[in-house]
Amino acid sequence: MTSRISILGFAGSLRKDSYNKAILRAALEMIPAEADLKIFDLEGIPLFSQDLEDRPADKVKAFKAAIRAADALLIATPEYNYSIPGVLKNALDNASRPYGDNALDGKPLAIMGASVGMLGTARAQYHLRQCCVFLNMYPLNGPEVLVPFVQDKVDPSGRLTDVKTREKIRELLEALVDSTKRLKAV
Ligand code: FNR
Repeated sequence: MTSRISILGFAGSLRKDSYNKAILRAALEMIPAEADLKIFDLEGIPLFSQDLEDRPADKVKAFKAAIRAADALLIATPEYNYSIPGVLKNALDNASRPYGDNALDGKPLAIMGASVGMLGTARAQYHLRQCCVFLNMYPLNGPEVLVPFVQDKVDPSGRLTDVKTREKIRELLEALVDSTKRLKAV
């Protein structure tokens, strides 16, 4: 029996012309035939306060519902000061609470990231992997999609044009679908 694999993607940037949003849009063009990719915008997720975790905002409820409805997740992270942006960490913190209601629990995850620097979010991606331990997520080890000097790889309309990067994203999506199928079969 074959069933479609649903993937939820989000970028850890609120910037209108975000390069990480651009690589997520590229993923939409390269999604394997047996999978669907929806993109969730983190804009509007409030700063997490543990005082309010039992009364989450509608946007947090929607985010957690979208995560739960997905078989797997795809995160495009910028690198801020050698780590993940607060926007992304805050979104993950919101999705993981209250204790015992972690929407991210057990989710397969593919990570990619684009930066204007030469390491292409390598350091941020390792910090994100560290968060995945307590979140109990299953991040793919590879292929690693690190996009350095991304400003040279998109056209003026914000479309990712670099052929090698597009191919890497395709490989990542195929690996995510493959590992999600294996995890679902267990
Ligand atoms: C950055 N940038 C950056 N780049 C990098 O390669 N390593 C880093 O540690 C940082 N640190 C950093 C901190 C802060 C606060 C900002 C605003 C930026 C640059 C970053 O790669 C660039 O702004 C990207 O364009 C951010 O991704 P989006 O918003 O385009 O998706």
